Amino acid sequence: MVVMVVVASYILRYDGHTVLSVDRVLSKRVLQSSPNTTWDWSQRRPDYPISTYQLLPAGKPRQLPQVQATFDSGTTNEGMKWLHRRRQVKAVFERCWSSYRTRAWPYDELYPISGGGHDTFGGWAATLVDSLDTLWIMDMKEDFATAVLDAGRIDFSNSTDEIISIFETTIRYLGGFLSAYDLSGNAVLLRKAVEVGNMLLVAFDTPNHMPIAKWDWRAAKEHYQPQVAPVSALISELGSLSLEFTRLSQITGDVRWYDAIARVTNLFLAQQNATKLPGMWPISVNVRDEDLTSDYTFTLGAMSDSCYEYFPKMYALLGGLESAYQQLYTGSMAVAMERMFFRPMTPGNADILLSGDLFAKDNGTVDLDPRQQHLTCFSGGMLGLGGRLFNMPDLFTVGRKLTDGCVWAYQAMPWRVMPDSARFVPCEPNSECNWAREAWLAEVLKRNESSDNATESARAQNLPEGFTQIDDPKYRLRPEAIESMFVMYRITGDVSYRDKAWEMFQAIDSVTRTELANAELVDVTTPGTPIKDDRMESFWLAETLKYFYLIFSDEMPLHVTIMSEKLRLWEHWPGKE
Ligand SMILES: *[C@@H]1O[C@H](CO)[C@@H](O)[C@H](O)[C@H]1NC(C)=O
Ligand SMILES: *[C@@H]1O[C@H](CO)[C@@H](O)[C@H](O)[C@H]1NC(C)=O
Ligand SMILES: *[C@@H]1O[C@H](CO)[C@@H](O)[C@H](O)[C@H]1NC(C)=O
Ligand SMILES: *[C@@H]1O[C@H](CO)[C@@H](O)[C@H](O)[C@H]1NC(C)=O
Ligand SMILES: *[C@@H]1O[C@H](CO)[C@@H](O)[C@H](O)[C@H]1NC(C)=O
Repeated sequence: MVVMVVVASYILRYDGHTVLSVDRVLSKRVLQSSPNTTWDWSQRRPDYPISTYQLLPAGKPRQLPQVQATFDSGTTNEGMKWLHRRRQVKAVFERCWSSYRTRAWPYDELYPISGGGHDTFGGWAATLVDSLDTLWIMDMKEDFATAVLDAGRIDFSNSTDEIISIFETTIRYLGGFLSAYDLSGNAVLLRKAVEVGNMLLVAFDTPNHMPIAKWDWRAAKEHYQPQVAPVSALISELGSLSLEFTRLSQITGDVRWYDAIARVTNLFLAQQNATKLPGMWPISVNVRDEDLTSDYTFTLGAMSDSCYEYFPKMYALLGGLESAYQQLYTGSMAVAMERMFFRPMTPGNADILLSGDLFAKDNGTVDLDPRQQHLTCFSGGMLGLGGRLFNMPDLFTVGRKLTDGCVWAYQAMPWRVMPDSARFVPCEPNSECNWAREAWLAEVLKRNESSDNATESARAQNLPEGFTQIDDPKYRLRPEAIESMFVMYRITGDVSYRDKAWEMFQAIDSVTRTELANAELVDVTTPGTPIKDDRMESFWLAETLKYFYLIFSDEMPLHVTIMSEKLRLWEHWPGKE
């Protein structure tokens, strides 16, 4: 028997087991424009055709070391506790999702305070596409089915933006389609992945086949200005395309995407030891002239982060058959281990590490800015994963301390929510690192030019002990801390990460919750109720809530592996059945 149900603005045809079809009754923008894309990016004639493609590495994938701990299954009272917590995470997701769908879709993002939507990433319903795999994982299959239907009608031949970020489009849209396709096998998602993939490839149609990071898609479509790679781009924009492009080539058997990023990888490799900080690459690079060596600033934070994160995941995705990614990873992490990670002086003498910024000088000296960005919190998981994959226990140990550093920074704050960026007192490597209040206050004073009284300055800024300055007091609903906690939990099986995650989840939800959804915070240091900002980026649903859900999940009914910027769940993270 087929039942027809009207859910919100959909008609669902349902046979008791499977959703047979879903039709939209009402939609805003989608109905106004043609549902069928009239232009396909693969029709565009290339200006710089490629004569020889680099092929995916051939051969039988290598047996990679086990990454994940072995977990006992079985239903216990403990198990019920986690089930209950997982449901609470899902309830938060459902609330936000429903508000996005009813009030903001087909826009990119929901305004979580005022309601309504706005476009931030090209106008292709970023939150919808980015959240697809979370919907699947949380077993929201009807919402998934309707979302896929709407995703199938997104028109990538047009955009609300004149300039498109190749990086953001890759991680949010291409990554969104691919991860959901890998989980569900739904053909619509693969078709859309290919559509976006064809568009993204056009940004590589330059004399040296390097991508245009901020891309004028209309000029490319209509050939009205020559395409050239930029003289200034960010290293993350260049380095964080490889997983999605490689996966698309693997699935389709079409090597063009892998070829495109293999050229970038070769450039990284050729110049790895030629930079101002040999082993790592600076934030700003010249892509037109293929010069990655001129800039002086190095970080695992903003504008770099996922470039490094992709190396070990690429190695795993390619079944260990491409050693370049091992070289890129171990070479860069050796430097980060030696210079970038520092132990902050804390009241409890916590044995933790944070990841700072480095400034290289022409004479070879390197200065550490002991500033930790929330974005660097992914690095704990990255070192944990790499430590296991490459059998490097030192990396693993450091990854654990970096993860614990982020947990500490959350717990130290008045609302138990970490700011986007803050400074600390770094201890000398291998020193005792005992708490010294006077030394902390001296640093607080140094950071505040308009004060001659450190105690007063610390109090005026609500600085927790150990923090010397909070240079960006926002909380942007970011995922990196829980991402690393989830990875560490899966690697170690250490349940304390779950308990800490539960505290963190409650803290975040209680201070960011609005009538409709959850919103960014303007300042996590303010007493009283923190002030909210009317913004909810797609990663809140696509990453943050997904990792909270997953860390409370005993079993994963999936072949999981964790890939891509979004910790997408793909099949190549060994060890968990
Ligand atoms: C492309 O998108 C813009 C902005 O949303 C819109 O004004 C325009 O009508 C669209 N063009 C086509 C051909 O759909
Ligand atoms: C860079 O230098 C390191 C250390 O000297 C060396 O092991 C590595 O092979 C070099 N990398 C490349 C790409 O030449
Ligand atoms: C290197 O140069 C910086 C200034 O750029 C200077 O402060 C530092 O003392 C120099 N170090 C050495 C070892 O020459
Ligand atoms: C700093 O200010 C506090 C009160 O805000 C005061 O008690 C203390 O004496 C001041 N310290 C100095 C060195 O002036
Ligand atoms: C510097 O310290 C003074 C108190 O001495 C405080 O009022 C002010 O907010 C501080 N400024 C900054 C930028 O932290």
